[in-house]
Amino acid sequence: MTAPTTVPVVQAINLKQVYAISRGFMRQPDQLQAVGGVSFTVQAGKTLAVVGESGCGKSTLARMVSLIETPSSGQLNITGVDAVNGHGDERLKLRKAVQLVFQNPYGSLNPRKKIGAILEAPLEINTALPAPRRAEKARSMLALVGLRPEHYDRYPHMFSGGQRQRIAIARALMLNPALVVADEPVSALDVSIQAQVLNLLGDLQQSMGLAYLFISHDLGVVRHIAHDVLVMYLGHAVEQGEKNALFAQPLHPYTQALLASTPGLAGSSAARHRIVLKGELPSPLNPPRGCVFSTRCPLVTERCRAERPVLRELAGRQVACHYAENFLTA
Ligand SMILES: Nc1ncnc2c1ncn2[C@@H]1O[C@H](COP(=O)(O)OP(=O)(O)O)[C@@H](O)[C@H]1O
Ligand code: SF4
Ligand SMILES: [Mg+2]
Repeated sequence: MTAPTTVPVVQAINLKQVYAISRGFMRQPDQLQAVGGVSFTVQAGKTLAVVGESGCGKSTLARMVSLIETPSSGQLNITGVDAVNGHGDERLKLRKAVQLVFQNPYGSLNPRKKIGAILEAPLEINTALPAPRRAEKARSMLALVGLRPEHYDRYPHMFSGGQRQRIAIARALMLNPALVVADEPVSALDVSIQAQVLNLLGDLQQSMGLAYLFISHDLGVVRHIAHDVLVMYLGHAVEQGEKNALFAQPLHPYTQALLASTPGLAGSSAARHRIVLKGELPSPLNPPRGCVFSTRCPLVTERCRAERPVLRELAGRQVACHYAENFLTA
């Protein structure tokens, strides 16, 4: 007998997003490729972290996976349902299955509503639950995210940043989603509070079997929460794979540079190549012709400038560098 195959919560194949940028009247718009073909899967109970500098396409990816934006091309299956071309009713159901947590817990909570009403709103819109049952669910969710029963009747401004992010997480979980897309969820918080919120996310994942797409520019944060990591640069995946392997032996010069610039990780053996990031991210309106990292890579050769490396399997992961073998330790 064959083991039952589990359907991944998310399966993305070659997702792309291209924006048309207006150049004024009577002129052809420019095409800005924010995400240039990214593929990954996330299983229930697992976290895929997407990392990279600001402007590399992380939030665009988050908006596609959370169904806020339709991809220009590529396939996206969520809980086995085709999120791009699937049947209207089925796609509607996905709106409950995928929930978002944003970076800014101040902006995302309505200041005029009490916490109870904020938590119950998704139930009111999407379910036929009567008011007492909605209230009950909101109160138990408050407890689950480490808030107190009396918080039910308070307003967002009465909470600290960390507490507000707990409220945003509680709201995201009210509809029992399969997937939570969290776009820089702890970046606005003090470091001491970050750890508490990350622990909470970890606990909730375990108890509810949640899949996370966790977006962060900070590898230090990612190290605590990810199972798998996808490193993006200028809209492209340059390295992706299991977290421990990637941290122990980064195979792409950009991953190495990110590690070397992360406090607390810079001294690790993983960062031993000491690649220092210099210069600016190129404009996605005018990307380098060959390797996307070629304008900043200290190891660049003529081949890199002429020929874009494809993402390929190496040492149990995917990497897009012509010379990645050089970083495998003997
Ligand atoms: N709606 C949009 N229209 C045009 N360009 C956009 C839009 N959203 C993002 N971009 C551009 O796409 C690129 C990736 O942006 P984003 O996904 O926000 O990156 P990140 O979240 O990694 O900082 C940037 O160059 C950004 O300016
Ligand atoms: S392909 Fe060349 S430019 Fe690109 S990361 Fe590898 S060495 Fe650097
Ligand atoms: Mg962003």
